Amino acid sequence: MWTPDSWRSLPIAQQPDWPDTARLEIVEKELSALPPLVYPSEIKNLSGHLAKACKGEAFVLQAGDCAESFDDYSANMVKNKLKVILQMAVVLTYSSGVPVIKLGRIAGQFAKPRSAAYESVNGINLASFRGHIINGDGPTAQERIPDPTRMIKAYHQSSATLNLLRALTKGGFSDLSKVHTWNQEFVASSDEGQRYEILAHEIDRALNFMAACGIDLKNEESLQQVNFWTSHEALLLSYEAPLTRYDRASKTYLDLSAHAIWIGERTRDLGGAHMEFFSGIGNPIACKMGPSMTPEEVVAVCEKLNPRRIPGRLTLVSRMGADNVDVKLPRLIKAVTDAGHPVIWSCDPMHGNTFVSDNGFKTRNLEAVIAEIAGFFRVHSALGTWPGGIHVELTGEDVTECIGGSYAISEEDLDTAYNTICDPRLNARQSLDLAHRVAELLIKN
Ligand code: PEP
Ligand code: CO
Repeated sequence: MWTPDSWRSLPIAQQPDWPDTARLEIVEKELSALPPLVYPSEIKNLSGHLAKACKGEAFVLQAGDCAESFDDYSANMVKNKLKVILQMAVVLTYSSGVPVIKLGRIAGQFAKPRSAAYESVNGINLASFRGHIINGDGPTAQERIPDPTRMIKAYHQSSATLNLLRALTKGGFSDLSKVHTWNQEFVASSDEGQRYEILAHEIDRALNFMAACGIDLKNEESLQQVNFWTSHEALLLSYEAPLTRYDRASKTYLDLSAHAIWIGERTRDLGGAHMEFFSGIGNPIACKMGPSMTPEEVVAVCEKLNPRRIPGRLTLVSRMGADNVDVKLPRLIKAVTDAGHPVIWSCDPMHGNTFVSDNGFKTRNLEAVIAEIAGFFRVHSALGTWPGGIHVELTGEDVTECIGGSYAISEEDLDTAYNTICDPRLNARQSLDLAHRVAELLIKN
């Protein structure tokens, strides 16, 4: 029998070693009494859109920080992230004619899986940083002690972020007539920004044309508002379970910490706690899959997570690395297709293409990122399946964390503005560059 707590008796990976379990229990109780962050009707609405992506009638753009930060947080940063995601969506929609579902890695993307329990910082061996919802990223043993109270702070920051996102997406800022204002100054001066400006002018002309034809654009809600949904990796189940509530209308439990959640590559063990938790909630869910995923295993994942075969419920996010995608992905797609499981295929071109530069920065090359997406499209085109989306790590800020792009960032430039607390993110210019190139792939598809 599944319950929001049935995962507790199973082996669980990637959880902190809480020093004070009594405190943890108090915090979980407090979280369970707090209002939900999202509403069941919104989740239902998103599920409907995702069902379309599953049928090849929409494309999913999932994007945001690797890890949100408690310290590096402001209204402007949220706004800038939204701007770049809206810009990317406009480029993708306008160029390809396919509706784009906008899903942020935001308002809850705090917990991080780590490959090792310890890491060396300035020559000192410290417990690994696991995301601000768990511990601090500072270089002292004290900072690294897991503190359950951080979950309350993560909840409130998520709530504030969501509040702002709702205002920005429903209150006029996201009106299509404002496409120009989403182009930030440092982006507008670049090649990608100029290319965006040309497209924005075309949109203006199209809107003017429609207005001249007598269409009342001011009353057209779909031009003035944007649907923007939130998602995160539901890694820390002590946070997710208390925010999971029974929804009478749909007769299911919903994790109301976000509209959609995903299982990471390191916690997708079939007999593990995460699979159990995900199998019983009604939200749209996703599962990452790296090069070690086998055809048998991926079918078992589908059976476990979507036994009723609901289109749009399950997204499989491949993150193979540019060199692996052509070899590893086709067998997985064939197995899932043969088993008759409806899934959305998405590509995370970030996590299989990470390396450490000669000068010591964890980075990614935009060319490798794009090469993996191109491989993903190639494989789907050969098999006749729909490349349903991309999943990327980006920021709206002018950072130098990934190399490449038309305004080429080299390894030597990385220390100029390397601000991430976890993985390297594409900056706003690189993100737009990526969107233009994915749009070309979508048109060809
Ligand atoms: C992530 O999305 O930040 C992540 C850790 O991914 P993965 O589980 O695919 O490694
Ligand atoms: Co990451």
